[in-house]
Amino acid sequence: MCGIVGYVGTEDAKEILLKGLEKLEYRGYDSAGIALANEEGVHVYKEKGRIATLREVVDNSQRGYIGIGHTRWATHGAPSQVNAHPHQSKESRYTLVHNGVIENYDHLRREYLENVEMKSDTDTEIVVQLIGRFAQEGMTTEEVFRKVLSLLKGSYAIALLDNHDPETIYVGKNKSPLLVGLGDDVNVVASDAMAMLHITNEFVELMDKEIVIVTRDQITIKTLEGEVISRDSYIAELDASDIEKGTYPHFMLKEIDEQPFVIRNIISKYKDENEDIKLDEDIRQTMLDADRIYIIAAGTSYHAGLVGKQLIERIANKPVETHIASEFLYNMPLLSEKPLFIFISQSGETADSRGVLVAVKELGHKALTITNVPGSTLSREADYTLHTYAGPEIAVASTKAYTAQMAVLAILAVDTAKAAGLKMDFNPLQELAIVANAMETLTDKKDKMEKIARDYLSVSRNCFFIGRAIDYYVCLEGALKLKEISYIQAEGFAGGELKHGTIALIEEGTPVIGVVTQHHVNLSIRGNMKEVVARGASPCMISMEGLAEGDDALVIPHVHEYLTPLVSVVPLQLISYYAALHRNCDVDKPRNLAKSVTVE
Ligand code: F6R
Repeated sequence: MCGIVGYVGTEDAKEILLKGLEKLEYRGYDSAGIALANEEGVHVYKEKGRIATLREVVDNSQRGYIGIGHTRWATHGAPSQVNAHPHQSKESRYTLVHNGVIENYDHLRREYLENVEMKSDTDTEIVVQLIGRFAQEGMTTEEVFRKVLSLLKGSYAIALLDNHDPETIYVGKNKSPLLVGLGDDVNVVASDAMAMLHITNEFVELMDKEIVIVTRDQITIKTLEGEVISRDSYIAELDASDIEKGTYPHFMLKEIDEQPFVIRNIISKYKDENEDIKLDEDIRQTMLDADRIYIIAAGTSYHAGLVGKQLIERIANKPVETHIASEFLYNMPLLSEKPLFIFISQSGETADSRGVLVAVKELGHKALTITNVPGSTLSREADYTLHTYAGPEIAVASTKAYTAQMAVLAILAVDTAKAAGLKMDFNPLQELAIVANAMETLTDKKDKMEKIARDYLSVSRNCFFIGRAIDYYVCLEGALKLKEISYIQAEGFAGGELKHGTIALIEEGTPVIGVVTQHHVNLSIRGNMKEVVARGASPCMISMEGLAEGDDALVIPHVHEYLTPLVSVVPLQLISYYAALHRNCDVDKPRNLAKSVTVE
């Protein structure tokens, strides 16, 4: 949700900032802007729309060796040129970009800025106007910056330029991610290391309520009280090719295709020299000690959590509840005596999940984060982390992160079962290898999925996905994929639940995609398909080898019954992809969305 970048060095900052923003566009893309500083002052360029639109308005003749940039996902104030960042203080001394939400902006405006006319509708402008106002009282920029940040409630990653000192970027953070990158005679700032890999791979992490004073040859980290902090840098283990599309037309397609490799990667990372599961002993013990597990997640990760519940309960015989992060604190269940909280999050930054993490840590409970980004907030703040090793996921619609999360959950479930001394004839490492092959078989059949998308979804305005048992959870994910990238109204339903209301929506030609991978629900879900066909639906059955019938639209390879969601989701991802393509939708950047949802 919003991405920020900053550069201070010896090259022209313009192109470096724009390139950085392009890498961060997945975080929000309704408007963008950059500010460049040089001896003539600070030049701000901003525009509604994508970075490509911003490029058109940037004055190429203007050069500057320092600058900041922003790509926005609107929270306060509609997407518009005026609301785009950077924002400036009165008389334009200060220029600022911000990712996050300032919760007390209205209070601050009434308290300190009664006579200041605001140019935008954003919470961000309050921050830069406050800085401008306090600077007039004779404080240094650093003092003002620390003072203003200590007045803010909410989340922020901020980068600030001072017109009077065009050699320094001031940055600060609370809850929103921010890194400082170190180079030779150059230092950079970014919401995500990916944005500045073209400059450096050495980064320093910032903690909440810290600021950094960044110049070309130095960075100084301080607390909001002004105490200097020293911190080691780390090397970001990212390959530039991981974040490029290569010959693929879209990141989503590339990431769908990467799933077999991700699963093989997970197998190798979680396998020891005896071909057994390799897992941190503390995590093993914590799983054993817990009397109930609470899985907390949002969106696609929540769907992986539903499958995780089944896996842990069936394999490790431990009770599990899976909860939507944004609801958990309002509908908090009675907690057991020794709960363990498992947070599932691709980005590790989702604010809804973090809200729960903070609350349960305050209650003294243990937390484990399963994430694709080990240094992320949810990873740092939990007691333990399990890495999903899926590599950067750039497309907004999650694909490989979802299957990776379920693979790790299966490994965790079996490890717990073995540690508890349960008899186990399911070897997840071997079975996942079969899954990887099955995924490959499906990604090789793209023509088939394209045809299904064309036949069933090219003119329809809605679509239903039905399944039972674990297939139902995959249907929820299939529906989410389809709606988020193709804008077709899609719903996932438990097959048996349709007749309790939703069947009223079935009309002549309504596409209904049925999924069946489990023997014990084969007859009943096929019965539900007949019910909708009798009311005019256009049926598309996806079944697993061994359960298939003559007119099924697609038969997927057989894998272990615990792991079928990792395979049955692949055709649903591809069908959604092609449905979106047929409708000329922006597959990687669907409207209104952003990856990494850092606001509650
Ligand atoms: C959908 C999607 C979202 C995310 C959700 C949680 O394709 O990507 O539903 O799954 O926003 O994000 P993470 O997993 O980063 O916590």
